[in-house]
Order: sequence, then structure tokens, then C-alpha cells
Amino acid sequence: MKYPTHVNIVEVGARDGLQNEKQDVPSSVKIELVNRLSDAGFGNVESGSFVSPKWVPQMATSADVMAGIHRKPGVIYSVLTPNMRGFEGALAARADEVVIFGSASEAFSQTNINCSIAESIERFRPVAEAAKANGMRVRAAVSCALGCPFQGEVSIAAVVDCVMRFADLGCDDIGIADTIGIGTPARVSAVFEAAAKAFPLNQISGHFHDTYGQACANVLACLELGVTTFDTSVAGLGGCPYAKGATGNVATEDVLYMLHGMGINTGINLDLVCEAGQFISQVLGRVPHSRVNRALAAKRALQA
Ligand code: HMG
Ligand code: MG
Repeated sequence: MKYPTHVNIVEVGARDGLQNEKQDVPSSVKIELVNRLSDAGFGNVESGSFVSPKWVPQMATSADVMAGIHRKPGVIYSVLTPNMRGFEGALAARADEVVIFGSASEAFSQTNINCSIAESIERFRPVAEAAKANGMRVRAAVSCALGCPFQGEVSIAAVVDCVMRFADLGCDDIGIADTIGIGTPARVSAVFEAAAKAFPLNQISGHFHDTYGQACANVLACLELGVTTFDTSVAGLGGCPYAKGATGNVATEDVLYMLHGMGINTGINLDLVCEAGQFISQVLGRVPHSRVNRALAAKRALQA
């Protein structure tokens, strides 16, 4: 089996990871988390969302976070923008990349962003245009590509249709998301293979929540196809407020351990990611969900 020699990781812990946290996480903590993640070597750190604070209160401080971080040259600081209001926030915050987020499931689109798939694309169109006009990158997310918490099965044709609509908007990257972590590797391969017929594979990324413990296996299935970009979340933080019961993204530490063990380069320092994972987990009053983080911490404790 031939695997890519280099993989890009988009670290989404400060956004996807924290958006569902019930306890107030001060901006100072979010800023320190983003700074620690930049220092660990990620090329793209998703740092917040410009969405309705009534819908996702935890992201209401995204402008403060973006204003407070230490920007490392070359790092892309990305934020979610569901509409032009969100885009204006992202522009004022000097985001490098905006993420427009749609769904392959009608039911999820209505619940998450309060409009149909077709309406969402029309909301995203001016966002994508304005981002391009301002020299910003545009990434898209296709939620529920492996199944929906409301409508159940989602067809591969529906995923491909969504990918084509995003391709038409001129996106630089399209992420295929398993929002509820329900997918298994053969289905993941089929979905990504079909998506790659509609959009270049080297601009498609994988976003796997780990609810059913399948996420690393699904990353591996994607690597076998040649996918080279994945979203992951430090300490396995997270979940979507509109996907009840879904757990966080696959833990960054677990994916890095797997990739580095396979000889795949990421440019990311696993030890620094573990420290960032310990830092945020301590603030939240829990142990990291990442098994690699816990295993390495136990090993260090034994050696000390
Ligand atoms: P709406 O109610 O249809 O929109 O919400 P609206 O234009 O009628 O506005 C309603 C209220 O929101 C108004 O305030 C607006 O001013 C305000 P009010 O008059 O009631 O006081 N508003 C905004 N405020 C701040 N920033 C904005 C903004 N837009 C409107 N940009 C909307 C539509 C999309 C805004 C809303 O549904 C929303 O914010 N939803 C949040 C969705 C969200 O953040 N979901 C989680 C992230 S997606 C995700 O996690 C999935 C992903 O990880 C991939 C995967 O795993 O699947 C990416
Ligand atoms: Mg997600």
C-alpha cells in the first residue's frame, strides 16, 4: 500500500472542540490554546466562528480571540462564516480563511443553519466571492456525509451534489464531514472516491468525529485513497451543538501518533500538542479524550 509522504492537519480544537462546551471558557484560555497550537507546528488553526451568539454562545468571543492571538507567519487562522454578517466579522478579525458549512442532509441543514441546502448555497455565494476579493481562502464543510442524526441515511449522490455546489463557488478546499462519527472505512472510501470524481482529491479533506471509535480507521481508509488533509481536535475535544450525542473530532494526538508511526511527515510536534491537550483538559476539569495523550502522560509519569 502506498501512503502519502506528507499530511496536513487542520487543528479544529479551538472551534469545533470548544463550541459545544457548556462552561464558560475565557478568551484568555482560547488565546493560549491557539498560540500553543500554532507553536506546535500546525499550518492551519481553526480559531473561532462568526455565528449567532444565541445559537452558539461559546463562540461569541471569537473576535476577541482573533484580536489576542500571536500570529505566526505562514499559519492560516481560519474561522466559520455562515453568511455575510459572519464574513464581515471574519474580515475585521483578519482571518486568513473562511469556512462555509453546508450539509448533505436537508434535515441537518435546517437544524444547523436554519435554511435548506439550496438556500445555504445562495447565502454562501457572496461570502465566497467577498473572501476571494479580499485575498482570503475559502474552505467548505459538507456535514452529515456519512449519516444524519435526524434523517438517518445520506446517499452518496447527495454528498456529491453538495461537493459540486461548493466546487461551483470556487472553494479552495472541501471537507467531507462525518458529523456524528457513524461511518466505517468501506463506506468512507466509497464516499471520498465519489467526491473525488467531482473535485480534485488533493483539495478534499476528511473531518471525522469519533463517536463510534471509527475515526482513525476512517483516516487510514482516506490515506489509502491519497487524501492528504484532515481536521483533528486536540485532546479529542468537541461535538456539534446540533448533533446530540456526537462526540468530538478524532483526537489530534491519536492521528499524529498513527501518521508518524507510519513514517508520514506532518511538521507537527506531538509533544507540544500533548502539552496543549493537557492544558485545555485541565482548564475543563477532565482528562484528555486522546488515548495517545493519556498513554504518553502515563509513560512520562513512570519515567519521572
Ligand atoms: P437565522 O436565524 O436563520 O438567521 O440564523 P437570521 O439572519 O434570521 O438571524 C437571526 C439572529 O442571528 C439575528 O439576531 C441576527 O442578527 C443574528 P436577533 O435579531 O435575533 O438578535 N445573526 C448573527 N449574529 C452573529 N453572527 C452572524 C449572524 N447571522 C445572524 N453571522 C445562522 C442563521 C446561520 C446565523 C444561525 O443558524 C447560526 O448561527 N447557526 C449556528 C450554526 C453553527 O455554528 N453550528 C456549529 C458549527 S457547524 C459544525 O460544527 C459542523 C462542522 O464541524 C463539520 C461537521 O462536523 O459536520 C463544520
Ligand atoms: Mg465537526
